[in-house]
Amino acid sequence: MSPALQGMRSRDKARVLIVDDEEIVRESCRRLLQPRGYRVAEAVDAGSALRLMETMSFDLVLSDLKLPDTNGIDLLKEIKESHPETEVILVTGYGTVSTAVEAMKLGAYDYIEKPFRPDELVSLAGKAVEKKRLREENLRLRKELSVKYIKNIVGTSKAIERVFRLIASVAPTASTVLITGESGTGKELVARAVHYNSPRRDRPFVVVDCGTLAGDLIESELFGYKKGAFTGAVTDKKGLIEEADGGTLFLDEIGNLPLALQSKLLRVLQEKEYRPVGDKKAARVDTRFITATNKDLTAMVKEGTFREDLFYRLAIFPIHVPPLRDRMEDIPLLAYHFLRKYSAELGREVTSISAEAMRVLTSHGWPGNVRELENTIQRAILLAEGSTVTPETLGFLTLSRTEPPRTEPSRTELPAAASQHTGETPRSIDELKEIKKELRERSIEAVEKAFVTEALKRNEWNISKAASDVGMQRPNFHALMKKHGITRPK
Ligand SMILES: Nc1ncnc2c1ncn2[C@@H]1O[C@H](COP(=O)(O)OP(=O)(O)OP(=O)(O)O)[C@@H](O)[C@H]1O
Ligand SMILES: [Mg+2]
Repeated sequence: MSPALQGMRSRDKARVLIVDDEEIVRESCRRLLQPRGYRVAEAVDAGSALRLMETMSFDLVLSDLKLPDTNGIDLLKEIKESHPETEVILVTGYGTVSTAVEAMKLGAYDYIEKPFRPDELVSLAGKAVEKKRLREENLRLRKELSVKYIKNIVGTSKAIERVFRLIASVAPTASTVLITGESGTGKELVARAVHYNSPRRDRPFVVVDCGTLAGDLIESELFGYKKGAFTGAVTDKKGLIEEADGGTLFLDEIGNLPLALQSKLLRVLQEKEYRPVGDKKAARVDTRFITATNKDLTAMVKEGTFREDLFYRLAIFPIHVPPLRDRMEDIPLLAYHFLRKYSAELGREVTSISAEAMRVLTSHGWPGNVRELENTIQRAILLAEGSTVTPETLGFLTLSRTEPPRTEPSRTELPAAASQHTGETPRSIDELKEIKKELRERSIEAVEKAFVTEALKRNEWNISKAASDVGMQRPNFHALMKKHGITRPK
């Protein structure tokens, strides 16, 4: 789309305030802008302009440089202070270039010299409004992306950050996405993140599990049917492809889609048309497809159980979600995330994970990935006797540990609970636990941060030493540093 066209589209219902003491000037601007879809308001001087701006927000102020009560420059300054998001164009008289330059420095979008041609004004106003709209759109997107990510997909590892970047780059498009990864890695979470960060977010996100439905059932679910198409089809039924029109259809376990339906799906993807069972007419749909599988589709293509042409259609933009064992540094974060979530949900005040328990968690292989970790923490909360998750509450995991159990006793360098009330930072895991218990109302985060920082200070910022000092594995300790944004002071 050309910038001019974009401008026309984005200025739908844009609000413009014209400030000029001469009625004939206001009138002529209004006549130019109103028919082009702008909502126009007028003010005779800076004072009334500012009063109007308090009650209504404007995308653009078009002001004369000379005003009865003050000048356009002062008005510009006021606007940039109280309504910085509003663009300002100043209308200047002949020979006031230096003032115009000053205006630009003060944040005016542009200036236009009198007498101007109608198309000059229209085009300048369009660009100014477009700039403002784009800026707002970007801000909104950025805010939404980060909020959604932080809320739903926990992790700071390189591997998961790569997934974030892929989501961010494909979400705004209508591209088909293929999400691969082992069971429980978070594929559905990724699919939702793509949808809810896309322009389709207000339209439906429809999930179909191709793994659980029998072949003919998937067909009528997906494509719907016409009354009388088969015995039992007593009314028309809308298919899910159509339910998801304008939104996203998430086909989970796509590897289980029977071959006959694979070709039908391929047709929908190629022609953007779909036909309910028993219907002669095809209907157009605007549905985005996201598919997921834990199977090796390329191997299935070689075997002949998955259509090659469909595979290439679906795999236009692949996102691989790595197994948890390849991003072990996310485990502490995930574990604490689930601990907070489920202790609140289950109404239990379990607020910490002992160092020994964390060691068990970070040495397990997690064949069931994040889902297994989630279940483990849920169970541990129910089994915990105090406020701490201990290795005993993870009992079943201890059996599958890949590391030999530590034989040395846990650290007690300082008399327990020596420093709770003095406000000093804890010097051992046990003491940290005590303090956490004592100060439950104080945020765990703050205690955790101080704990990590102090361990680093004690060990001259040597991360390995600090980690072993507090009895943690280096990657986990490092993850905590990252979580709290702790870096060595310059
Ligand atoms: N990075 C993560 N942060 C927070 N929760 C996560 C994360 N990854 C997965 N989960 C949670 O783990 C569980 C499994 O995730 P999800 O259902 O998305 O996995 P999946 O890959 O679709 O699994 P399957 O192949 O078995 O369908 C969900 O409860 C999800 O909320
Ligand atoms: Mg799933």
